[in-house]
Amino acid sequence: VRPHVEAIQQADFCWHEAELPRGEGQAKQRNLSYDEEDGSASTRVVFESAWSRPGGYHHADVEWFIMEGMIKIGDQYLGKGGYYRAPAGLRVPPIEVQEGTDILLFREYGDWGFSVSDKDQSEFVSRGANTASDEPGELTIVDSNKMEWMPNVYEGDTQRFLKLKAMFIDPASPDNNNTGFVSMVCWCPPGWSDNRMVHHPVFEEAYSIAGRLDYNFGSLGAGTYFFRPALVKHGHFIAGEERGWTGF
Ligand SMILES: [Fe+2]
Repeated sequence: VRPHVEAIQQADFCWHEAELPRGEGQAKQRNLSYDEEDGSASTRVVFESAWSRPGGYHHADVEWFIMEGMIKIGDQYLGKGGYYRAPAGLRVPPIEVQEGTDILLFREYGDWGFSVSDKDQSEFVSRGANTASDEPGELTIVDSNKMEWMPNVYEGDTQRFLKLKAMFIDPASPDNNNTGFVSMVCWCPPGWSDNRMVHHPVFEEAYSIAGRLDYNFGSLGAGTYFFRPALVKHGHFIAGEERGWTGF
């Protein structure tokens, strides 16, 4: 079980040696949320030296969101606002990370394990541990700077004023809304408000990148984070007047 964490400020937490096996270099991490049973975790990782790792596959569904610095994955460079995701078992090309790079590393349905390999773990790799799809999993590499903000899909209510950049979408099955997975950057425009209390059939988590959002659990400013299990009520949001609120 992953406990309800809401809301914390990352700066209040201590540093650990980063859980990045098979890599060369120095990195430290702050644990934002940790599942002691399956090893899932959401962490902020800072690379204190240049760091590199050969190609291979993660043992969890893994996402990196770059907050500062630069990484090279395969032959692609990703700076601030860059994102990559790989489902467990899918081979990821070699990675190089510039000293000082600061990322959010979220891993789901598995632990920190990484196996160096020149091929996938098995002949078929699924899109993720919670997928409803029969399609093979793939490596997602996105630069959010190159994307336009799109309106929220929930037409007809106050949440339609939210702006999104979808990093990864694995749709839920029509028969089971507990399936699938979505990762996005979300922006609540200045002064946005929604006075309802809502809940979801699935967990929700976010790291605040900029701005401010006041709601029933307190105030989300830059560096705050929450992991909210399914069915926990949250709401009466009021976004900051100056910059609104932006989170991943
Ligand atoms: Fe929500």
